[in-house]
Amino acid sequence: MTQTSTKFAIANLKGGCGKSTLALNLAAGLMRRGNTALLDADPQGTLEHWLNHEKTSGMPRVVATGRELPMHISCAGDSHQYVVVDCPPALGSGYTETALEKVDILLVPVLPSPPDLWSSVHMVEAVEQARKVNPGLRAYFVRNQVEPKSALSNAMRQAIASCGLPALESTLGRRAAYRWAALEGISVYQFGARGEKAVSDIESIIEEVLNHD
Ligand SMILES: Nc1ncnc2c1ncn2[C@@H]1O[C@H](COP(=O)(O)OP(=O)(O)O)[C@@H](O)[C@H]1O
Ligand SMILES: [Mg+2]
Repeated sequence: MTQTSTKFAIANLKGGCGKSTLALNLAAGLMRRGNTALLDADPQGTLEHWLNHEKTSGMPRVVATGRELPMHISCAGDSHQYVVVDCPPALGSGYTETALEKVDILLVPVLPSPPDLWSSVHMVEAVEQARKVNPGLRAYFVRNQVEPKSALSNAMRQAIASCGLPALESTLGRRAAYRWAALEGISVYQFGARGEKAVSDIESIIEEVLNHD
């Protein structure tokens, strides 16, 4: 039966800004709300290597998409309530562009440093392009690796606002739990008490995005 799904893409041109971390943990959080598909559009296949399938009950299965990305997004949307697409760190290969044309919500993780923000400006152009065929696309920067009470992180929110895409109020803190969970091949939801703060970051991102129009 076809159902109405909410589809997310996680993209940025920078490697290492937290796309796969956000994609995997977001999918784990969405999985608690409804059936979720996690699509790996990065030809490097990070997510497939990442997940320890023996330990990850409660996690969506990862589907590597390759050139079939448009078909995978449509099919996943027909049979899942939520779809999360982890994009490669590039524009030009067509994967990120395709994802932006097909999803409802784009999240762009960005590290709290000015050069990282500048290099994300091309994402703003990609969003404008995608909106010509997907006018309902909602897009937000998500500040990652934020230090508590960091003046820089707050200043970054102001700087981001002038870039043409809003930043979510919710952030991902700089937390060892994200790295440890990745090393163990699990999400922060499977990480018990050690993952609590990280889970609360992800929950707050999900609530902010799902309750925002
Ligand atoms: N909020 C965070 N706190 C601590 N480490 C993080 C955080 N976000 C990402 N990392 C780490 O940074 C590295 C790059 O993250 P990753 O999600 O693989 O980036 P990308 O997919 O954009 O290349 C990984 O080692 C990851 O565990
Ligand atoms: Mg990645």
